[in-house]
Amino acid sequence: MKPPTLPTLLHIDSSPLYARSVSRELTAAFVLQWEASHPGGRVIYRDLNATAIPPVTADWVGAIYSPEEVRTPEQKELLSLSDSLLAELEQADEYVFGVPMHNFGVPAGLKLWIDQIARVGRTFTYADGTPKGLLVGKKATFVIATGGIYDAQTKMASFNFVEPYLRSVFGFLGVKDATFLTAGGTKVLSQGHDRNAFLAPHLQAVQMQANSLQGVAA
Ligand SMILES: Cc1cc2nc3c(=O)[nH]c(=O)nc-3n(C[C@H](O)[C@H](O)[C@H](O)COP(=O)(O)O)c2cc1C
Repeated sequence: MKPPTLPTLLHIDSSPLYARSVSRELTAAFVLQWEASHPGGRVIYRDLNATAIPPVTADWVGAIYSPEEVRTPEQKELLSLSDSLLAELEQADEYVFGVPMHNFGVPAGLKLWIDQIARVGRTFTYADGTPKGLLVGKKATFVIATGGIYDAQTKMASFNFVEPYLRSVFGFLGVKDATFLTAGGTKVLSQGHDRNAFLAPHLQAVQMQANSLQGVAA
């Protein structure tokens, strides 16, 4: 009988704030708990704030729509970053993303990353005329930090383009199992609120989520 394969987690951060970042602190706690509950599991880390991702250009689009067997060396080179980012996504069974809200949406670095990994024939296809996501069987956890509060039923809810956008894009790419954990109202931290007290329930939520994934990919 084939031995069970050890799970792989892809950990992606996108906050520029490092030590002050709420989303980074929460994804770090998630990963620690995930490692404890998945002995031998592998973690791939990608820091989008330390990765130079160029915007999409006409040449890049030309390269992705050229069949692989006729791509020029220049086109292959143009797609090499995208290929590496895709390999990380494909190798992992589970994903955890740290996402700060920037101007009601995702940070620019995360959007640039999405533009690199949303690739026809790799992460989605229209082969039979209807869109089909190719990232199947993956589990994603999105840890979002927002300065204000955007809970459903609040008057600011319609300004939240982070969760609906991520749900739509990843759903389109085939990731149907997505959990969203939001630390809302982080602006109190710059108004003298105790950081540990603020973070405590969110740390508990991410740790519970990491634990609940135990064994899913084994
Ligand atoms: C450039 C920038 C834009 C921001 N835009 C918003 C916003 O539109 N709405 C909001 O509620 N908070 C906004 N914030 C506050 C962040 O969402 C908040 O600080 C959050 O904690 C960021 O996550 P992080 O701590 O992981 O960086 C913004 C912060 C920055 C730096």
